[in-house]
Amino acid sequence: MRMTQFVDRAPIERVEILGKDTIVVGYGLVRTLLEEIITQIPSSTYILVTDTNLARLHLQSFIDAFEEIVKNVVTPPRLIHHAVPPGESSKSSKTKEYIENWMFSNRCTRDSVLLALGGGVIGDMAGFVAATFMRGIKYVQIPTTLLSMVDSSIGGKTAIDVSYGKNLIGAFWQPQRIFVDLAFLETLPEREFINGMAEIIKTAAFWDETEFNRLETNVDEFLSAFRNRDPRTGIVNLSSIQTMLHKLVIGSIKVKAFVVSADEREGGLRNLLNFGHSVGHAYEAIFAPQVLHGECVAIGMVKEAELARYLGLLSDSAVARIINILSAYGLPISPQDKKIMQLTNNRPTPVNKLLATMAVDKKNSGAQKKIVLLTAIGKTFEQKASVVGDENIRLVLSPDAIVRPTSLTSSSHVQITPPGSKSITNRALLLAALSSTPTRLSNLLRSDDTEHMMNAIAQLSGADFTWVRGSDRTEEDVLEVKGRGGNLIASSVPIYLGNSGTSSRFLAAVTTLVKPCTTNNVHHVILTGNDRMKERPIGPLVEALNNNGADVEYIESNGSLPLRIAAGKHLKGGRVELAATISSQYVSALLMTAPYAEKPTTLALVGGRPISQSYIDMTIAMMVSFGVQVVRSSLEPHTYHIPNTPYKAPSEYVVESDASSATYPLAFAALTGTSCTIPNIGSTSLQGDAKFAIDVLRPMGCLVVQNECSTTVTGPPIGGLKSLKMIDMEPMTDAFLTASVLAAVAHDDDKSITQIVGIANQRVKECDRIAAMITELGKFGVHASELPDGIAITGVDSVEDLISPNESTQGIYTYDDHRIAMSFSLLGTVARDGVLIKDRKCVEKTWPGWWDVLHGKLGTDLAGYESPFAKPSSKLAFRKNNGHSLFVIGMRGAGKTSVGGWIAEALKMEFTDLDVYLETKHNRTIPEIIRDDHWDGFRKLELEVLQEVMTKYPVGHVFACGGGIVETPEARELLKQFIAKSGIVIHIHRDVKLIMEYLSVDKTRPSYVDDMYAVWQRREAWFDECSNFFIYSSNLSNEKDKIHFKRTLLSVLNTMTGVSTVHDKIISKARSYFLALTFPDVQVAMPEIETMIDGADALELRVDLLQPAPYDSSPSIAYVQEQIGLIRKYTDIPIIFTVRTVTQGGRFPDTDYDKALALMLLALKLGISYLDVELSWPSWMIQKIVSARRFTKLIASNHDWTGTWQWDGPEWEAKYNEATCGREVWADVVKFVGFAKSRSDNIKLEQFRVQHGEGSNKLPFLGINMGKVGQLSRVLNRMLTPVTHPLMPIAAAPGQLSVKEIQDAATLIGED
Ligand SMILES: NC(=O)c1ccc[n+]([C@@H]2O[C@H](COP(=O)([O-])OP(=O)(O)OC[C@H]3O[C@@H](n4cnc5c(N)ncnc54)[C@H](O)[C@@H]3O)[C@@H](O)[C@H]2O)c1
Ligand SMILES: [Zn+2]
Repeated sequence: MRMTQFVDRAPIERVEILGKDTIVVGYGLVRTLLEEIITQIPSSTYILVTDTNLARLHLQSFIDAFEEIVKNVVTPPRLIHHAVPPGESSKSSKTKEYIENWMFSNRCTRDSVLLALGGGVIGDMAGFVAATFMRGIKYVQIPTTLLSMVDSSIGGKTAIDVSYGKNLIGAFWQPQRIFVDLAFLETLPEREFINGMAEIIKTAAFWDETEFNRLETNVDEFLSAFRNRDPRTGIVNLSSIQTMLHKLVIGSIKVKAFVVSADEREGGLRNLLNFGHSVGHAYEAIFAPQVLHGECVAIGMVKEAELARYLGLLSDSAVARIINILSAYGLPISPQDKKIMQLTNNRPTPVNKLLATMAVDKKNSGAQKKIVLLTAIGKTFEQKASVVGDENIRLVLSPDAIVRPTSLTSSSHVQITPPGSKSITNRALLLAALSSTPTRLSNLLRSDDTEHMMNAIAQLSGADFTWVRGSDRTEEDVLEVKGRGGNLIASSVPIYLGNSGTSSRFLAAVTTLVKPCTTNNVHHVILTGNDRMKERPIGPLVEALNNNGADVEYIESNGSLPLRIAAGKHLKGGRVELAATISSQYVSALLMTAPYAEKPTTLALVGGRPISQSYIDMTIAMMVSFGVQVVRSSLEPHTYHIPNTPYKAPSEYVVESDASSATYPLAFAALTGTSCTIPNIGSTSLQGDAKFAIDVLRPMGCLVVQNECSTTVTGPPIGGLKSLKMIDMEPMTDAFLTASVLAAVAHDDDKSITQIVGIANQRVKECDRIAAMITELGKFGVHASELPDGIAITGVDSVEDLISPNESTQGIYTYDDHRIAMSFSLLGTVARDGVLIKDRKCVEKTWPGWWDVLHGKLGTDLAGYESPFAKPSSKLAFRKNNGHSLFVIGMRGAGKTSVGGWIAEALKMEFTDLDVYLETKHNRTIPEIIRDDHWDGFRKLELEVLQEVMTKYPVGHVFACGGGIVETPEARELLKQFIAKSGIVIHIHRDVKLIMEYLSVDKTRPSYVDDMYAVWQRREAWFDECSNFFIYSSNLSNEKDKIHFKRTLLSVLNTMTGVSTVHDKIISKARSYFLALTFPDVQVAMPEIETMIDGADALELRVDLLQPAPYDSSPSIAYVQEQIGLIRKYTDIPIIFTVRTVTQGGRFPDTDYDKALALMLLALKLGISYLDVELSWPSWMIQKIVSARRFTKLIASNHDWTGTWQWDGPEWEAKYNEATCGREVWADVVKFVGFAKSRSDNIKLEQFRVQHGEGSNKLPFLGINMGKVGQLSRVLNRMLTPVTHPLMPIAAAPGQLSVKEIQDAATLIGED
């Protein structure tokens, strides 16, 4: 296949290295480089070494160009070539030896010149051949991956791998030339491109802040250019980014060339190139080959940046920038990254192993580890790697932390600026963008929400953002915002806001300001979010906007994102009414947009006292800071007048720190008798938690000095805190955890009890925080109990009495809740033997640098900890369920009782509701139990009951668990273990909206309807991980639907439990067929489905042909789930679930592996009979599917759309071996689809069928040829022949016939 366009027009640039300008960079260089090589590095023999991928794509053009150039030479040189298999395994001594022998046999000599055409593998290996062949021959690097262009081809390091490690045998051997031809990138797969980006980001991160800024700004351009591939050839059109790409590559090359030239053999400076590599290599040693080098380096960069932050060298925001840029380019930022876990099948990364690998790093000096430490983006601590103590590295790599008592003494005074408040950050970003004057924002919080806000503003051309170094006091990064005064321009790309409620609400209003983009003819903007955001309400705001002149439409469901907002429809201003009792975000959104309405606006909040007034006050106060005076009406309550004047930003704006976060350092002072100042939160703060110092700490005996904008707390001598008796923390609920740990050591002469009330909402936060505090305080020996809306804590008499929950007792469990982790780490600073905090990373939600502050500023010794690792057993053969008891879980109201009952009926088992079981056992109702024993008492009993039935009733029962069972970590563990041991846990679910409707009429249970979404959000992932099957329980309004549902349920259960005989039946038939459904929405086919499937044994759902989700190229998971539900409502025919990629003749994007995998795993969870698994999917994906499947049959399929494979050729033979003789044979059916160009292709297929498809121990074989000529093969195939039906909109493949046509033809040719 000819791929590269060898045009010699683009500019060529040369870069000097080691005193010679041997690096040549350009676009379409092949001719030029060959001419230069032939004239300037003359030889009689040129040896081209490449890999087979590149040979297929580029070799022929290379040879053609060579012959063209030498055709008039009198004694032309010859070009010999050899292609090795692609991949790291070719960097071996075996390959090296093979090539050397091949060179000898081709009479190569000392004057031969080797050309290494390929990525780093070829460059390293062939370079090493050149370095040693006859004591060294000349060679030329022609890198073809982004990574090799900017990194491996430059510097002269060559190497191969040995069993002791990577790159351990090699030589420094400089190439004569390095030709960097960017045109090769046109064929580079996306993942390889991103892999190379990691090295480019690395170079910018330690060397060049301007380049880093540019990379940040241009993420979208780069990625969209790279994702925009010709669907047929997979080639990218790089023209839109050619210039940028050139600059980017040249920039990186120059740094590497400079550093190498200054330090060819790695003394100091060259080590800087290893930023991210010391730790990255340690991960690579574990994750390779599934995870690529650049991907491991990305994780390494994050860890090494965190290390620099821990050592007090690097700011929070610089670390955030590194993390954000890496994830923006699609690189992993942690070893727990979802993709990494998938690729490596959850391979563990024990800290000891990582440290051991790091110990053999070539740059270490003796036993001391050396790591490149950043002090800012583009700056390093030393001009070389620095020595870092093991204990620091261990902490940064460890999941848990041991906090030891502080070394600060009572006279110590610290000043701490916690990260900015999220609410203020988001408002500040928006107001700065809407201003016509530039401003510098500092102390911004970097979080998903704020990233979405910034990206959206940038996409609407609303402002220019530049990160700059803080001018005066700190190394803190400051964001320079050049606002455009509300002149936003419509963008054709939908604006994605994730699950950010604030951004969605604020932007829905602000986006009404956009003007059409005349150059690109864009007249509206689309705001969209993730699936959860698409369920969250926005209706009242949209209504208010539309009533005031805007034109906002819903694209999917009414009342939620996505929205289509017309450009150029300005708000008119005047009177706007909004219900006061709904979200304050709507009010803030309207307030902030109103200054740009045509007329002044009067916003009246009607219908009672507004909720969250403090947020409204915050918005108004901030608008004042940005030059717009909002006036409260003196006549009407809750009514505001907003002038139509433009915003004017102050030249600098410091975002107030988050007041909830500030409670931790202040509480530290209170506990330890030291002083702490928060410099930017004072009495004028609008954050509720800002009252903590005055209302909580002062009554406990602290000295509190607060002025308008700062707060200083000095604690009493250790042990001197007084208990509070009773405090209502309703105005600052999030701070109750901080107060609780103080109460734990507060005491009085009479009764040392502190009762904290008004915090009922804390039961439905990240976890049931009240229950969690009681449990975890107990581990310190502190008694606490639950109050109806709070907690009562009995303080110990002396801190000496605190028990230290450390390694020996498994420490403090943090429930993935940042506040629990931070609160209990405080107790560790006074408890005699400290405290072990598990999963310390959960603090990152609000304060990523908390541990660094605790260590660096608050003087505590921290140690990294990792509990001895228990590797999850991945491969367990599933046995049939044979009457084993099973569990159903799901939200209350999702249909567990009814569906669970039917399941029991279908499987002839007994149904038991565990809530009822529990009530009977304890002879009390659940409300009574909760009243007397509180929630945690109930949860304990619930857990007990679960354990009990699991051991007591292993067979014959269907148990329905309570909706909250997954809240208890131990219960989740039990369920997961149950699944791991072949058990069945079915998650039953229905639309959350339906559940809400259902629950709002059920008054017999404690109500949590108001927080239903929060509850579902919290539990969704738990339900998912604790179940291995999923059943969607639709609303069955009539008896007929019910009967249908039950009939289908039975056949689904048969697949789930392994008693299904569907497959055996099909393979025993003389002829079987499946009908391929090719509808975008199967609904239309359902009325006729019985007719259409007549004669078919199965129904194939072509998932790739289903309606894609809006702005996506494939259908959403929810949609597919629904479509399966629909089919099952009408028929119980076995379903074949197929996701066919573009290359395989379908519509599914070729490389969207994550989505494809998610869909296929969904099929397994739904108990689908057959899953089609293309052999061309990456092996990690196949492994995932294989290990998750139970009784779903897998069809190993392969398609040759090119029509070039012969049935008697090597390709099909190889594929057949792959499907049937792999390390683990997983296929139940082999399905091969070729293409017939002539009749003989059908005959060859029949021979193949005879050879492979028959005989006792062979797999059932389905083989057909596409195309008109191939139709005969459809008649000759007997097993599951794909068929179409006249009622189908399109045939699934060219040449497809109907059952009737096949049977008629078979009769005609005497086949039946
Ligand atoms: N010598 C050094 O200084 C140095 C520095 C960094 C990395 N390395 C080494 O580099 C190697 C990794 O290099 P890599 O990332 O380039 O991997 P690679 O050479 O394995 O190439 C990656 C994949 O992309 C394919 N490919 C390459 N160019 C292509 C193109 N233009 N179009 C389509 N497909 C193409 C290859 O066939 C291969 O499958 C590692 O062995 C690493 O140790 C060396
Ligand atoms: Zn590297």
